[in-house]
Amino acid sequence: MSNHQDILSKLDNKYKKISQNLDTHLDGLLHSKPITYWDYINTDALLSLQTQRTDQPDEMVFLMYHQINELLFKMMLWELDQLATEQNITATFFKERLSRVSRYFDMLSSSFTVMQHGMDLKQYMKFRNTLTPASGYQSAQYRKIEFASTEIINLVDNRFRHKKSKNITIKDAFNDLYWQVAGKDFETGQKNFMLSSFEERYKEELLRFGKEYSTKNLWSIFKGLPSEIQEDKGLIEAMRHYDYTVNITWVIAHFNAAKHYLTNGGEITEATGGSDWTKYMHPKYQRRIFFPELWSEQERKDWGTNV
Ligand code: HEM
Repeated sequence: MSNHQDILSKLDNKYKKISQNLDTHLDGLLHSKPITYWDYINTDALLSLQTQRTDQPDEMVFLMYHQINELLFKMMLWELDQLATEQNITATFFKERLSRVSRYFDMLSSSFTVMQHGMDLKQYMKFRNTLTPASGYQSAQYRKIEFASTEIINLVDNRFRHKKSKNITIKDAFNDLYWQVAGKDFETGQKNFMLSSFEERYKEELLRFGKEYSTKNLWSIFKGLPSEIQEDKGLIEAMRHYDYTVNITWVIAHFNAAKHYLTNGGEITEATGGSDWTKYMHPKYQRRIFFPELWSEQERKDWGTNV
């Protein structure tokens, strides 16, 4: 059978299975338009999503860079989902997918200078006021990446982590997750608008997602691999690299950008979301580590202190 006939017979089979007539579909092809780049990428729709709130040109840098981040977060979640749903995870598959996820976060860490140096300070100080009380803190995809990377216990506020059961559920841990502190009044415990509006919009979704990933996050998958693979030096290094790029390199790049814009002449400016950001945003304060078992006691103790 020629290649041409082979394809026709496969198509015939395909359409018969859904009670469709191949000839009708072939006839349709006679009139269909060829695909173009702009239709496939949805360029017009994509480029229509950049709506500034002010007349400050650099607001566009801020807005678009956040959108780029959300797109990359989506790419990471796409990969993490494939890892989580794969029935037979081999070491090669795990390593390959882990390095994809890591590569995306490396891009985010190394490009953060777009924020730190890519906007005019005076313009930033003007447009930021129109963004209050919104904050990148309200990125649900960022939280999902964390849930898909580690066990819930490792995302509990560092001050209470040791008091909780290692198997704590997302539901029981939710109010003590490390990021809750940025959205609460220290003395009264009252949630600010940044946190309460975030929860209203995303809490249910995050609880569902966190529960789903409690058994198939990166760490649980790693622990389920045969022990000789878990001891593979290359794999351990790749896991540590991912942990470091997300929880130190990116966090410090983010902190430095905030410091650049929010410490005007030594005076500390309040964050749009209202957190006690000078402390909260530093990795040594949050001390979040996805894979603590892969770091020595000293490394965990020094987490975020030498950057
Ligand atoms: C000039 C640029 C930026 C500044 C000054 C800044 C500032 C801040 C501040 C002060 C917070 C603490 C919460 C608050 O009170 O608002 C925060 C949280 C956060 N921001 Fe940004 N940010 C910037 C860019 C970005 C970008 C590009 C992203 C990417 C999506 C991002 C994502 C986040 C996330 C995920 C959090 C929560 C982090 C955590 O809980 O530890 N930020 N940001």
